[in-house]
Amino acid sequence: MRPDPGTDGAQTVDDSERVVIEAKGLQTHFPVKTGVIASLLGAKPQVVRALDGVDLAVHEREVVGLVGESGCGKSTLGMTLVRLYEPTDGLISFLGEDVTRAKGGELKTYRRRVQVIFQDPYGSLNPRLTVGEIVAEPLRIHRQGNAHERAEGVAAALGRVRIPAAEYVDRYPHELSGGQRQRVAIARAIVVQPDFIVADEPVSMLDVSVRAGVLDLLEEFSDELGLAVLYVSHDVATVRYICDRVAVMYLGVFVEWGDTSSVTAQPAHPYTQKLMAAVPDADPASRRQRVELSGDVPSPIDIPSGCRFRTRCPHAMDICAEQTPEWREINPGQYVACHLY
Ligand SMILES: Nc1ncnc2c1ncn2[C@@H]1O[C@H](COP(=O)(O)OP(=O)(O)OP(=O)(O)O)[C@@H](O)[C@H]1O
Ligand code: SF4
Ligand SMILES: [Mg+2]
Repeated sequence: MRPDPGTDGAQTVDDSERVVIEAKGLQTHFPVKTGVIASLLGAKPQVVRALDGVDLAVHEREVVGLVGESGCGKSTLGMTLVRLYEPTDGLISFLGEDVTRAKGGELKTYRRRVQVIFQDPYGSLNPRLTVGEIVAEPLRIHRQGNAHERAEGVAAALGRVRIPAAEYVDRYPHELSGGQRQRVAIARAIVVQPDFIVADEPVSMLDVSVRAGVLDLLEEFSDELGLAVLYVSHDVATVRYICDRVAVMYLGVFVEWGDTSSVTAQPAHPYTQKLMAAVPDADPASRRQRVELSGDVPSPIDIPSGCRFRTRCPHAMDICAEQTPEWREINPGQYVACHLY
């Protein structure tokens, strides 16, 4: 399956904005450990096809959302794009440069220009470092500036996330609230002036009252710093709140993508329809986080033939088991891969 929320769908974004990151046919498979006895008995090595052929492009000043149930491959896509996971196949290009197999100094430079904000603001900050040291760490790792310049950079980054540097720079993570910790994590990501950020469920562990403030920061940085952001979430309400476009993922592939308003208001793929029906409201402070749909998700080791959703789809037809559906543009800026269209 080859969706392309970017190059072919460029009419849905401002054409003057550059493509920052682009994936073509991106796959990440994880080998499954086979026991010695099973190997001796000739069992075939198995793989988890966590990411199984995705095309994606994220432009400057754009927030692209990625939604889908637990285990559908959202984090694997994010981690592969920033080269924290090794892709099995496909291409990743960053500002036009092929970085799929970048190594050594080239990979180090790439790792500065792409940053990740993780879900857990408690686990992602080193408890033994002060706020100032945490935010300065990427500058030290990438040998940017002298001590004075680094201190200035840290103060500026903390200022951008509305954490007063003078008051907080010597504090430790345990002295901060969850929302403040996540702001520090964002400051740590932007201090090295990246071009692309993967925000992997950045607000799902935060108190409902502070979620919108953190999302507003991401949107602001995308606009003002020209960042491309991939916002990973279970939570369609927050996706509606900040994303320009959204891709819907199922079992390692995209099944629908397009303008957030079209995909969330008029979902076309039966899977997207189920996802949207499970969302109670458009409030980013909604307490409902995990979307649970009926029916078991097939194993990513043994993916159904044809349309991967057919084992749970109320509209499945014979052709759905035989042929992988092609992409169709069903409305301007809205694409779906389903034999119903
Ligand atoms: N390092 C790994 N080794 C083996 N399998 C993995 C690894 N990481 C992820 N997987 C498997 O790949 C599939 C996709 O996982 P992934 O974490 O990308 O899903 P997700 O959409 O981010 O889920 P969630 O919403 O729960 O965070 C799952 O079946 C998962 O068990
Ligand atoms: S292709 Fe067939 S099984 Fe898949 S979502 Fe469409 S109707 Fe359902
Ligand atoms: Mg995940």
